[in-house]
Amino acid sequence: MALPPTIRSVGVLGVGRVGRALAQLARDAGLTVTVAGSQDTTGIADAVRADAVILAIPLSKHRTLPADALNDALVIDAMNYWWELDGHLTEFEDARTSSSEVVAAFLQGASVVKAFNHASVWELEHLAAPPGDHQRRALAVAGDDADDVAAVAALVDAVGFDPVVAGPLKEGVRFEPNTEPFGADANQQELQEMLDDFWESQRGRVVARARAQVGRNEGMQPPPASLA
Ligand SMILES: NC(=O)c1ccc[n+]([C@@H]2O[C@H](COP(=O)([O-])OP(=O)(O)OC[C@H]3O[C@@H](n4cnc5c(N)ncnc54)[C@H](OP(=O)(O)O)[C@@H]3O)[C@@H](O)[C@H]2O)c1
Repeated sequence: MALPPTIRSVGVLGVGRVGRALAQLARDAGLTVTVAGSQDTTGIADAVRADAVILAIPLSKHRTLPADALNDALVIDAMNYWWELDGHLTEFEDARTSSSEVVAAFLQGASVVKAFNHASVWELEHLAAPPGDHQRRALAVAGDDADDVAAVAALVDAVGFDPVVAGPLKEGVRFEPNTEPFGADANQQELQEMLDDFWESQRGRVVARARAQVGRNEGMQPPPASLA
């Protein structure tokens, strides 16, 4: 697999199931990988200097991340809000805001790109495939900086999945838990269709109504007229 144009090293914060799976994928793709758990201050200092830093910790712990050290970093948010594990957190239950926007607001100096969150650990460990493989799975990518989104899309490709760019970070809401792409076995075209159909889904309707109530849907893909 070809290396991506700009990401040649990754730091992984979180050495749990997802962190280990993503670190292995990156190593297999030939990238330099540094992993660090919460108590590993030296490892964290090294990890945040990588070309991209993957967040693979429980979302409820995001405020323990080293925000200052991640200033100017390209950060890949692989986290999900999972209330059964995270507990009920009001900031992640506001349907107007994607969870990655909340993370980006905390990591103010970082460029946050959402990726890898909607595949299970098993899928990450077993379904990587070379480009052109007819069974290759697709993974969505969303972020506000076009160059960083392209770099992460290239990383997704390099580690064995077809990237589908979903738009800016707020569009990450289209592949969070309780959406069709979440855990779906989808190729690039199927994933694109699922993302396109989001506003017709129950979750999409909830998000569209919540955003419309406060006029926050400027610049986003408009919800169907029937919901306006
Ligand atoms: N499980 C899945 O299938 C799946 C798939 C995609 C995405 N996700 C998301 O990925 C994230 C991780 O899930 P997981 O299943 O891998 O959880 P996990 O197995 O519980 O691992 C999380 C790890 O994060 C570490 N951690 C906590 N705070 C940290 C910090 N500030 N810096 C560095 N490490 C820290 C924890 O260990 P220490 O505190 O001991 O260091 C723990 O090892 C979650 O947000 C989850 O929603 C999960």
